[in-house]
Amino acid sequence: QLEGHDTFLHKEIHEQPTSLERMLSGRLDDRFATARLDGLGIDARELRGFRRVKAIGCGSSFYIGQLGASMIEDLARIPADAEAASEFRYRNPIVEPDTLYVAVSQSGETADTLFAVREIQRKGGCVVGLVNVVGSSIARECDGGIYLHAGPEVSVASTKVLTHMGVGFALLALLLGRVHDLSYADGARIVAGLRALPGQVQQMLDSEDEIAVVAKGLAQSPSSFFIGRVRGYAVAREGAQKLKEISYQHAEAYQASELKHGPLALISPQMPTVAIVPDDELVERNLGALHEIAARSGPVIAVTHPGVEFGDLAAERIVVPHGEVELDPIVLTIPLQLLAYHAAAALGRDIDRPRNLAKSVTVE
Ligand code: M6R
Repeated sequence: QLEGHDTFLHKEIHEQPTSLERMLSGRLDDRFATARLDGLGIDARELRGFRRVKAIGCGSSFYIGQLGASMIEDLARIPADAEAASEFRYRNPIVEPDTLYVAVSQSGETADTLFAVREIQRKGGCVVGLVNVVGSSIARECDGGIYLHAGPEVSVASTKVLTHMGVGFALLALLLGRVHDLSYADGARIVAGLRALPGQVQQMLDSEDEIAVVAKGLAQSPSSFFIGRVRGYAVAREGAQKLKEISYQHAEAYQASELKHGPLALISPQMPTVAIVPDDELVERNLGALHEIAARSGPVIAVTHPGVEFGDLAAERIVVPHGEVELDPIVLTIPLQLLAYHAAAALGRDIDRPRNLAKSVTVE
């Protein structure tokens, strides 16, 4: 079943171009420059009535929810945020009828997320699922949803399904955008951007050998920072999570803007920073944070787009294909999967079955 790969994680990372093609098939509507998401079971008029979106999920599914919220704010221009499902129901949440709740889960069996779904429904809210496992509890109990069609994910650490979640949110953001104020031209731009994604992911996978070299260096550091801003922050959180889970090296994610409010004290030649620096409207601000790090001799691995000028701010650069800014974070996560995999491999970890973790957490 490993089909020539040494682990399921590696196989699953490499399945992404094909599995993404499959997920997108039949879901892009060129005529109306929108997404076709029949499984949501919500018509255009009802969709227009939602004034807010809240994503809920646990662990990496929560981080991708954060990414999804920023896509929805970018494209649909309605307020969106994400919350850890494990906290949500313990704060007696206010459930509003004009909020669309999105439950995000690979397994569809995560207890914290399932109980949050029930709490939303008990209070009269509408919740749709972004779920991979067909017929799972969350998929069945939600009011509608978007199946991720990533195929089975065996490795405990999630990779390909998270990328599919990113695409699921992009489709939802496109649809919500088009029933609100997103122009036809912008809709068509996103449709084309989504179609280009599997090829961009493949391009990234083709750079695996170079990323493996960087990862071997990173594996030597017992602790590292991952930083990004806004869209890039969700990417940084997921990158740190993946490294922790499978290499057991400590990694902590921060908003690049927050560094100077405390964590800068830890920057030294022994503390590398993986910096997510997309070529977007925040590029200069991100570079500003790197100046602060360089001034303290902190080594930087930049995950970035072609053409961003670092001078001597980043010793290592991983260059990711640049597409539409709203979708770019999806591709930016791919090198972080490879970094974590190769760091864990260099340290001889049990990559598919990391200690203390389960694939599906069915207890609170
Ligand atoms: O099956 P779910 O997506 O609901 O699982 C949620 C988390 O437990 C999961 O994403 C976890 O953080 C993974 N081990 C990430 O690799």
